[in-house]
Amino acid sequence: MSTSREHFSSKIGFILAAAGSAVGIGNLVGFPVAATKNGGGAFLIIYALFVAFICLPIMLAEMGLGRRTQHSPYSAYAELGKNAIQWRLAGWFATITPFMIAVFYMVITVWIFGYLFQTLSGNLEVIAQPEYFGHFVNDYSFVGYLIAVTLIINFILVGGVRKGIERASKILMPTLFLMLILLVIFVLTLDNAMAGVEFYLVPDFSKIDGSVINGALAQAFFSLSLGMGILITYGSYFRRNDDIVTSGKLVAITDTAVAFTAGLMTLPAIFAIYPDTNPESLSDSSVSMIFSFFPQIFMQLSDIIGYGFATVAASVFFLLAFVAAITSLVSIIEVPTSSFMEKRNVSRSTALLVMGIAITILTLLAATSFGLVPWVSHVITYAGIDKSLFDVIVDVFYETILPLNGLLICLFVRFRWKRENFAAELGEGNSNYATSFLHKYVNFAIGTFIPLILALVFANTVAAKFFGVALL
Ligand code: PHE
Repeated sequence: MSTSREHFSSKIGFILAAAGSAVGIGNLVGFPVAATKNGGGAFLIIYALFVAFICLPIMLAEMGLGRRTQHSPYSAYAELGKNAIQWRLAGWFATITPFMIAVFYMVITVWIFGYLFQTLSGNLEVIAQPEYFGHFVNDYSFVGYLIAVTLIINFILVGGVRKGIERASKILMPTLFLMLILLVIFVLTLDNAMAGVEFYLVPDFSKIDGSVINGALAQAFFSLSLGMGILITYGSYFRRNDDIVTSGKLVAITDTAVAFTAGLMTLPAIFAIYPDTNPESLSDSSVSMIFSFFPQIFMQLSDIIGYGFATVAASVFFLLAFVAAITSLVSIIEVPTSSFMEKRNVSRSTALLVMGIAITILTLLAATSFGLVPWVSHVITYAGIDKSLFDVIVDVFYETILPLNGLLICLFVRFRWKRENFAAELGEGNSNYATSFLHKYVNFAIGTFIPLILALVFANTVAAKFFGVALL
């Protein structure tokens, strides 16, 4: 059934689609809060260095592997890896990881949709009650929201690469930028907003330690959608004469710029409403920030601008988060979908149906992790902590296998694909690459210290998460 492979129609189409994948929930709240708690400007500098010197080479490797083979991750590794078992395993990891991360990301996206629905219905007051989130996650209305989100995603994905992913990104990404800028302008006009900007930007190097550095790298890695097979798949939709190198740089810059700009919305909003906030006390969890803290902020805002305008501001915020989440979900579900189309030789709609059913069942199960179904809420205990199914998915796939996938692609480039061939691939579409500094840097780093750092992160995570022993 499979016909010739579809391609993005233009470089900008690819950049917007990949930026759509990269810009997600992590950018809007996770990044700004992590920066503020961990040294402000000092964290920002370290983060930017990680993006440029560690993440960009991996990003180029993923995109290059995809374009070279014109396949999704599993077949890409199998083909270039000459079917060797270790590379088939790497391909399998790059296929199952996005599938499982899609499940946990789906749960959060469905909640965001529920909150958006509630705010649009004029219920800001209701969602701002401190006990609301606890009830909400254990309520069967989840199923209705899940169906709606699944329909929206499938509506985009069924159109394929150009008419689906690319077209949706071209509409949704500019909308997202606009909403973000409007919210930043609005928030910066509030009294006390500048206190938030200060906490966010003024560097405090004394806060930087091993765990902050590890956290910054993990955040950069996740934020750029690395290790999830996404950029291999999107790279395979690139044409031979497209410029991978410039596109990769632009995606990294856009993602970082959005994360940085989001800090100019998130922190000033917190400090405008609660001027005495101690940055240390902000929650590390984006989930509790988005679903518990933010609704209260919007509710307090109604004292200043009235309930109607506060509802509008809250709706724009949840719509922004929803758009960011949907474009990420589209990219991540595309990975197992396109692998399935390739392996089983089925049509896009059949593959989407199978993925849709599988992800829906797992999402429903994962969503009952919060007390609704007792055995799902306590499936296993490790490192002395009782874990729910949702926790296990996050620990295994997000925390552990993500850096492992990064390590595997570095080893693949160094020992199997070979760095000269990788460089030749990047040179296609960018005639200056061969003589550039970037070329020398990428070839050196990807074969030496980047895999070393990722191996350390991986070992440390396994020891800390599963055995309760901190190595670093
Ligand atoms: N970059 C996304 C974020 O920051 C991560 C992600 C991408 C998650 C794709 C799921 C799918 O939220």
